Amino acid sequence: MQETQSSIILGIETSCDETAAAIYQEGKGMLSSVLFSQTELHKNFGGVVPEIASRSQLEKIRPIVREALEKANLELKDINAIAVTHKPGLPGSLLVGVCFAKAMAYGLNIPIIGINHLEGHAFSAAIENDIPFPYICITASGGHTSLYHITDFGSYTVLGQTIDDAAGEAFDKIAKLINLPYPGGPVIEKLAASMNFEDFFHYTRSNPDGLDFSFSGLKTAVLYDLVKRDAYDMKTKKFLKPHDETLQKQVASSLLVCITDIFKHKLARVIKAHPEIKAVSFVGGVACNNYMRAQLQLVCQKYNLKLYFPSAMYCTDNAGMIAFVGNYKARRNEWSDLTLDILK
Ligand code: KG4
Ligand code: ZN
Repeated sequence: MQETQSSIILGIETSCDETAAAIYQEGKGMLSSVLFSQTELHKNFGGVVPEIASRSQLEKIRPIVREALEKANLELKDINAIAVTHKPGLPGSLLVGVCFAKAMAYGLNIPIIGINHLEGHAFSAAIENDIPFPYICITASGGHTSLYHITDFGSYTVLGQTIDDAAGEAFDKIAKLINLPYPGGPVIEKLAASMNFEDFFHYTRSNPDGLDFSFSGLKTAVLYDLVKRDAYDMKTKKFLKPHDETLQKQVASSLLVCITDIFKHKLARVIKAHPEIKAVSFVGGVACNNYMRAQLQLVCQKYNLKLYFPSAMYCTDNAGMIAFVGNYKARRNEWSDLTLDILK
């Protein structure tokens, strides 16, 4: 029943605080990729509030899917298969996308493919680039930090990952600590640039054995350093110098350099451990960071490897990467069915 030649795939992504839909057709590329970001809704809370996220998903899913169809100049009947993120993520948010996709697949009598959000990120740099296999992928987002060894589309092993917080989470939590808005990553990059990426405070670089990462200690290191500078009150949990822009900039700059150093160190280590690799990709929301890109590029240059990254629109959560992964799974007849769940 399935058409495997250049199918038109609708991708749906609702794993966290973005409602996204995209349409991909092999040979023609991404026909549309649209999203509604809930950043404004969560800004005042310093992070994503799951209940608010799922309610907003419910409101936006239909208009966003419609917009993706309109932008691609297509109608519902033109879609051959639906790829939807079914894990991991916030349960309430995931459920909206999965239920919507299942209802659409049933109503249109077309197949459905459940996609792991992390596989979406892991292959996001391949949407716009032909990356030679095998390659190493560094995924750094708000929820995940992992190193993958990728041998083919859909074939990958985890070489290392964070044992506690994700890199993006570290940016977000430390931004909150010093009264900067959510999400922390972009604003920290901006403030760090204004200080020429100088490392003022030399926060300790956590370095778990092997290829794993750890970022939770960094938040504590920044916290204690602020206390030492009379800039944070542990009792009231308040930043005491909200108007000291220089201090905010110094923390931002030192933090970005520290996190970048940790990635550079791990990248050099993984390259040495895997001399067979032909390239490196850097993906996920944190990969929007131009300073980190440039620094990781220096490491790759040293080993004669090319560093690939997605355009910004495919770094942060998006449905394009879900439709793209859906496409290669469809080609291999790797379908799900209507029992698709967010837990398995
Ligand atoms: O991939 P993403 O949209 O969501 C998850 O799957 O988690 O990543 C969001 C994360 C946030 O933590 C945000 O602070 C971080 O990506 N981020 C950045 C930058 N832009 C977004 N981190 C560092 N520098 C940036 N320019
Ligand atoms: Zn993500």
